[in-house]
Amino acid sequence: MATRVMTFYGTSVGKKVVMAVTGFIVFGFITVHMLGNLQVFLGPEKLNAYARFLKSSSAFLWAFRGVLLAAAVLHILSATQVTLQSWAARPEGYAVQRYRETTYAARTMRWGGPIIGVFVVYHLLHFTTGQLHPSAPWFNGTDVYNNVVYGFQVPWTAAVYLVAVLMVGLHLYHGVWSMLQTVGAAHPRYNRWRRFLAATFALLVGGGMALVPISVLAGWVHPV
Ligand code: HEM
Repeated sequence: MATRVMTFYGTSVGKKVVMAVTGFIVFGFITVHMLGNLQVFLGPEKLNAYARFLKSSSAFLWAFRGVLLAAAVLHILSATQVTLQSWAARPEGYAVQRYRETTYAARTMRWGGPIIGVFVVYHLLHFTTGQLHPSAPWFNGTDVYNNVVYGFQVPWTAAVYLVAVLMVGLHLYHGVWSMLQTVGAAHPRYNRWRRFLAATFALLVGGGMALVPISVLAGWVHPV
């Protein structure tokens, strides 16, 4: 069984399936995370109660973190290997760059991924552990609402998040498009639907994420 799995992973389709499945898990998390974040508009009690609920069972929390971390590591590993293989297939490079896939999102996948990776490390030190929170001595592990609002009142911090969220949106757009291709919707007849689904999903998730820093900067959400 293990040998079969490794043989399948050894093929380029195998790596793309792993990339699609792990991408699905990570973006499932991001979608739920975005919906959770929107509770900032319901006030501190709601958002902080939701955050307390998520941490109420440490066994569940660590099992969930383990799955998420494993999915992220496998996603990065398979993406890196597919990229290295495609570079190895044309070692001299193109004299003139020609892009088979034409969207800006497709071309940004390879550097967008590492940028998102760096952002996640910054993000954990900012909102989860608090070391990089602008009001670090004040950071309160149980008051997620005020951590977020004080955090985004610093314009450069909000700007970093907006850039990261844009990257996530572009990554998501091309990721959903490619995932649908990997699972079989590759016929050009489906292209319009694939584009529509990918764009809608990317806009909803990216837009929902961006709404929080924008609302704090605009003064629509205040510290309490
Ligand atoms: C404006 C956008 C975002 C906001 C306001 C936000 C907010 C937060 C907050 C407040 C926490 C800490 C929650 C707590 O300690 O209870 C958190 C954790 C986290 N966020 Fe975000 N986030 C945003 C975007 C993202 C993005 C784009 C990603 C991934 C690419 C991400 C991944 C994570 C992860 C992995 C955790 C740690 C979860 C855990 O504790 O296991 N976040 N986020």
